[in-house]
Amino acid sequence: MDKKVYIETYGCQMNLADSETVAGIMLAKDYSGVKEINEADVILINTCSVRDNAEQKIWNRLNHIKSLKKKNKNLKVGIIGCMAQRIGEKLLEHQAVDFVAGPDAYRSLPELIMETDIDLKPKNLNFDINETYSGIEQIKQSENNISGFVAITRGCNNFCSYCIVPYTRGRERSSNYLDIIKEVKNLEKQNFKEITLLGQNVNSYYFEDKNLKVDFPKLMEMLAQTVPNMRIRFTTSHPKDLSDDLIDVMAKYKNICKHIHLAVQSGSNKILEKMNRKYTREWYLNRIEAIKSRIPNCALSSDIFCGFSGETEEDFQETLSLMQIVEYDLAFMFKYSERPGTHAAKHLDDNVPEDVKKERLARMIKLQNKISLKKNKEDIGKIFEVLVEGKSKRSESMLYGRTEQNKVVVFDAGNAKQGDFVNVKILEVSSATLKGEILVESL
Ligand code: 5AD
Ligand code: SF4
Repeated sequence: MDKKVYIETYGCQMNLADSETVAGIMLAKDYSGVKEINEADVILINTCSVRDNAEQKIWNRLNHIKSLKKKNKNLKVGIIGCMAQRIGEKLLEHQAVDFVAGPDAYRSLPELIMETDIDLKPKNLNFDINETYSGIEQIKQSENNISGFVAITRGCNNFCSYCIVPYTRGRERSSNYLDIIKEVKNLEKQNFKEITLLGQNVNSYYFEDKNLKVDFPKLMEMLAQTVPNMRIRFTTSHPKDLSDDLIDVMAKYKNICKHIHLAVQSGSNKILEKMNRKYTREWYLNRIEAIKSRIPNCALSSDIFCGFSGETEEDFQETLSLMQIVEYDLAFMFKYSERPGTHAAKHLDDNVPEDVKKERLARMIKLQNKISLKKNKEDIGKIFEVLVEGKSKRSESMLYGRTEQNKVVVFDAGNAKQGDFVNVKILEVSSATLKGEILVESL
């Protein structure tokens, strides 16, 4: 009989995509997926290490899972992903954990589980620079069957001084463009309407074979032409690699969504240098100008954090002023969390007091909420093409979807359904969502 696997995912979109890959690997080896944790023979927890609180969540979760193991003595629990890679040995000491596997080791999961039968606590934390999970069919983990992820690069070579990712995901590698095209066409055949190309730094995508040299703008162009009726998104871009060529390709193709997530992290040159971000405030603002002038309807979002080593009130003010200049539609904001093993943990004091970090974060969030509201208000009266994702949580008769700018819009369903493209006129906004009405006539 099939064994039942339950997969729980924390962290970034790359982890969501990885869990789909893991499901593909498990289902090809006599497992079936279950949506109820209590029904599982095997629980896999795909983890994140980016900040300490992401790891604390997992430790708390393990205490709950320990109680499930008391009820089901045959239950096997595996920790996979970034936290497994970072502290796999320590995780194995926890009663609830039977095995661990890092981000490059997912093909070995069925074997690791078999090894647990002979009472070992197996681990696979090997890096594999050639691993792109080529040939594995991903299995969707959510009900949303219109929007899919395609990982195009894995790993990271940037070594931002605060960041754990180069240590947990290893060196950067790009998938073969032929595999990517195949995967995208496959999603199109399954009626998906949108793909998001994923990588820690998608702009540095590069793959060459004897026929072609393919960089990121070239890949985008190939995909835009291959699936003209699908929306194409991508994340994340590193500002240092955001080329004019990419902006041109985005401007040229209607099906490339007009949204760029361009993580700035800080607005202070002193801090950017300590972070090893390899650009200055001025360079970043120049990139933003290039985007705004060539793609006027392009939405901008960012990751920003406060309280990095040596950040003074003046440095923080530079961050706030950059936020005001750029006017992001959306930003993910954090406080610095020192990660053991990174350059910053070894060489830069974590010397901004916790209460100052907290207070700066609150100011940042307050400012961004104001900016998001202002940006959303500019959308009132405008008409957007919205891809319908599903029923609104608040009301059965309402649907929600996204504009190509990645803004969530709620509207009366009418005859529309999941997967439709509809034109919606925006009537009301908050800092987080737009509300509108479907227009019957086409744009
Ligand atoms: N502390 C706080 N935030 C961090 N990020 C990455 N590392 C850290 C850290 N040590 C943030 C960055 C990154 C996002 C995924 O998480 O803003 O872009
Ligand atoms: Fe978390 Fe970064 Fe790993 Fe994604 S890549 S799971 S954000 S640590």
